[in-house]
Parts: sequence; C-alpha cells; structure tokens
Amino acid sequence: MLSTLSFASRRSFATVASAVHQRTLKDIPGPSSFPIVGAVPHYLPVFGRYKPHLLTQYSIIKFREFGPIFKETMWGTTLVYLIDPDDIQTVLGRNPGSGGNAVWPKRVTHKVLEHVRTHELKSTHFNGGIFMTNGSDWVEIRHRHQKAMAIEEIGIFIEKCDQSACDLVSSVNSPSMKVHVESDFLNVLFAFATDYNGMSLFGEKWNAIDEYLDSNSMTQKLIWTSTELNHATGPTDHGSQTWRLFSTPLYKTILKGAQILDDVVTERLDRRLVNGELVAEEGNNSMLDTWIRDGHKDYRKMVTFLSDMVLASIDTVAYSLSYILYHISTNPRVQEKLFEELYGLNKDGLGAPITSDMLRGARYMKKCIKEALRINPLAVGVGRVLTEDTILSGYHVPEGTNIVILNAVTSRLPEYVEQPEAFIPERYDHDGKFKKIHPFVSLPFSFGPRSCVGRRLAEQAMNIFVFRLFRNYRLEWLGADKLDAITTLINKPDAPLLFKFTPRESLH
Ligand code: HEM
Repeated sequence: MLSTLSFASRRSFATVASAVHQRTLKDIPGPSSFPIVGAVPHYLPVFGRYKPHLLTQYSIIKFREFGPIFKETMWGTTLVYLIDPDDIQTVLGRNPGSGGNAVWPKRVTHKVLEHVRTHELKSTHFNGGIFMTNGSDWVEIRHRHQKAMAIEEIGIFIEKCDQSACDLVSSVNSPSMKVHVESDFLNVLFAFATDYNGMSLFGEKWNAIDEYLDSNSMTQKLIWTSTELNHATGPTDHGSQTWRLFSTPLYKTILKGAQILDDVVTERLDRRLVNGELVAEEGNNSMLDTWIRDGHKDYRKMVTFLSDMVLASIDTVAYSLSYILYHISTNPRVQEKLFEELYGLNKDGLGAPITSDMLRGARYMKKCIKEALRINPLAVGVGRVLTEDTILSGYHVPEGTNIVILNAVTSRLPEYVEQPEAFIPERYDHDGKFKKIHPFVSLPFSFGPRSCVGRRLAEQAMNIFVFRLFRNYRLEWLGADKLDAITTLINKPDAPLLFKFTPRESLH
C-alpha cells in the first residue's frame, strides 16, 4: 500500500511539475547539434571548439556560456550536464525508497566491458560486473562488495599496507629507485596501489616496484590494464558505437584488459579449488579467503567480483595520490604544519608501525587530502540515468535522461568555493574564516547508495602512504609549473611527478 502511494505521489508530482514548469529538456541550452552526430564536430581535432581530454576546463567555458545546466547530443544520445550543487543534491541525494519497489540509482557505463564479459568471456563471468549492472542484480553485487569494505573488515590490512608503504618510502633515495624518482614518481604510486591490491584481495606480497621495468610481469600487465581499459571506456561509451559492428582497436584493448584481469584472478581462485570447490587458504585473511569462509563459493561470480575490485583500485589510488603529493609539496606552510602533526603522532618514524589510532589522530592530514581531491578529483563526472521525472534548475527533465554530474567543475568555481584555485586545508576548520561549502560541491567519491564502494579501502591506503611520506621526508616539487589533468574516463596527471626528497630527522 505504502509503495503504491509513494509511486502515485511521484507520478502526480511529475504531472504537477510539468504543468507549472513550462521549460523542458528541449529548452536546456547547449552547443549546437548536427544531424546524426550531434555535438561530435565540436570535439574534432583542429577545427573543434572543445578538447575532449581537457573536459574540466572546457566544461567551465560551457558553464560561462550556457549556465549551470546544459545539454549535448552525441550520436543520438542526449546528455544533460549539472554543475549547480542543488541540482546535484536533487539527483544524488534522492532516497531510493525501500522494499520491492525501491528505485535504485542507475548508471550506464563500461558498455564494451559488459559485452566482452557476457559474450566472449561468459564461461568465466556471471554477468557484466558492478559498474554497469542496474536494478536488483546490482543490489546483490553491491551488498557483497559493501560487506567486504566494512571498517572492521579492512582495519586488518593496516599493518601490511604500512609495510608496503615503508618499503617504498624508505628507499626513495636508493639507487634502485633513482630511475622512477628521476623520471616519474607516478611509477612508485602505481606500485604501491598494486601491492596494496595483491595484499588486501589475495593476501600476496607482489613487490610491483621490482617488476616495474618488465612489461611482461604480472603487476605491469595489471597496471597497463587499469589505465588502458579505463582510457578506452570513455570513447567507446560515448563515441560512434562502431565496436558493435566490428572489433575496433579500442574494443581489442578492453578485451585484452579483461582477459588479463581474468588470468590473474582465475589463477588465484584455482589455487583454492579442492575437489572442484573453493576452499579458503588456511591462515590467509585476504578478502578472497574471507568471502570463501563466508560461503561465497560461486566461481564465476567470484571472477567478476574480484576483477572489478582489481580494475577499480590501481589507477584511482595512484592518480589521487599524485595530486595530494603535488598540492602538499607546493605549499610549504601546509607541509610544515602537516609534519608537526605527524611527528606528534609518530616520533619514531620508520621504526614504529602506523596504528589505527595514529590514522584517526591525523586530522590535518585528512583535511589536506580532502582539499587536494576538491581541486583535482579523480572523476570529472558521475553518470546517472534519471529513474523518475525531475525538476533541475527549473527544467522538467524526463525519466530515462542521461545525466552527467560535473563535480570536478563545481568544486573549482568561485560561485561555490572561496578562492577555488588555492590549496587551503583550513577551509574545513569551520571556524567562520571561510564560507561553508555546500555539501554537494566536492564529492570525490560521489554520494549515495551508488557512490564508491571502495572508498574506505582507498582512504586507508592513501592515509598510510601520505603519513609515511610526509612524516619522513620534506618534498620539493621539481615538475611542471602547474600540474593539471588529462581526462580519459578519469583525470590523470598531465605531467610527470618530479620531487626532491629530503629526509626529516626531527621536528626542527
Ligand atoms: C582514491 C581512489 C578512488 C576514488 C577517488 C574513487 C571514486 C569513485 C567514483 C567517483 C565512483 C562513481 C560513483 C557513482 O557513480 O556515484 C566510484 C565507483 C566505484 N568504485 Fe571507486 N574510487 C576510488 C578507489 C576505489 C577502490 C580502491 C575500489 C575497490 C577496491 C573502488 C571500487 C569502486 C566500485 C566497485 C565502484 C562502482 C560502484 C557501484 O556501481 O555501485 N574504488 N569510485
């Protein structure tokens, strides 16, 4: 009864809304559109007005031209872009309801990966995976991911993650690390993210940094997959869809990446097979073994599940750490204040393990991380398909419309953030010195039931690495004048990460 009523009231809201608000989807402004291809010519090399790999910058230009809501049609699909935090709250903050009639957040993405897994790799996969699945199937997968990410579950990885961070951090000035430090520290961040993956998911120590120069090593193949598969996903999701007709180069890249993920995951699952049944490894408290102990024994579901986890957690953590290190190292005042906090929490440096209490106490460090991800969030946009008619900036937008939430733009506009280009962790002190930021302006992990399920694991890894690095070294930025982003599916640094690392002896 309740659900029928809420459904009825939703429809009547939409009807009343459409009567009162005359403006509809077709009235939303945006760049001009051509037959069949829509706005695609605006993105062509040389003649195009916009550059697809500089999405944040060009979205700011569109914001100035069209306002906080604009639309674009690409190959017949209309995308509505949102920049106003109230609109973002309307879409992401929606209560999905409950019970059998719950309307869950819907997203269309990773179309090729879904096709590959449900056609070419269907003997090893149960379905397309968490990113593109919607409805009740998504609820089941999400529930499983979420349980694994509970704070009490991931706390057990602090010690091993710290060991991996210590190994890398203590050797930054060693001869073996010279090649990475002098060419691009991003290599070291990739190695850290990959090691953390192996350790938390499978309970294995991978030592990715030792394999960095060997493109045939397993860890290098995983790093390639995480970057290239994501890189190929943006254009195949929003491009011409020719991959549906024949095997395009981008299609082949995604297929190759999906196969690499499968190889790594199935090799580890096979090691746990006893008489055809998955059995947890004794003494191993990895996520995989914990799930098996919890009764998750469907081989194909585990392949999809674990492949998604590996795919989501390497470039995401490495790119986010890049910006965190860049912003702290280019702001000496902040770096000194951070060091004082970390020294106060851990006087023995590399000699003492990082504990959950130390991480909890590092409040200024967390504000530094939050501020870096406000200026340079990983995702330029979060996609949704509207599950009901919605009023956005006064326009009546119908159910089924594709929405792109441009938080990376919102969080860099003076309309919503004071001195948006300045790195000021103190803006989160809430002592009245800075205007409070609308809660839907900066959302690096998104918001709501469909937000990043790996957030806690990612934050834990980044907290440990940042703690270790800035507790033990003073970083000096030696790279480009300004580090910004190139957008593929996500934002990645547009220049090599170059630092000088000076060891810290004591507080002064
Ligand atoms: C700093 C690192 C990371 C950032 C900034 C980040 C950010 C995001 C964002 C913005 C989304 C889209 C959410 C939405 O549509 O509302 C997302 C989704 C997701 N992330 Fe992360 N992520 C990070 C690391 C990780 C890690 C380490 C994992 C797994 C171990 C992970 C797993 C996922 C999954 C599975 C989804 C899809 C969730 C769903 O569809 O229900 N992420 N992430």
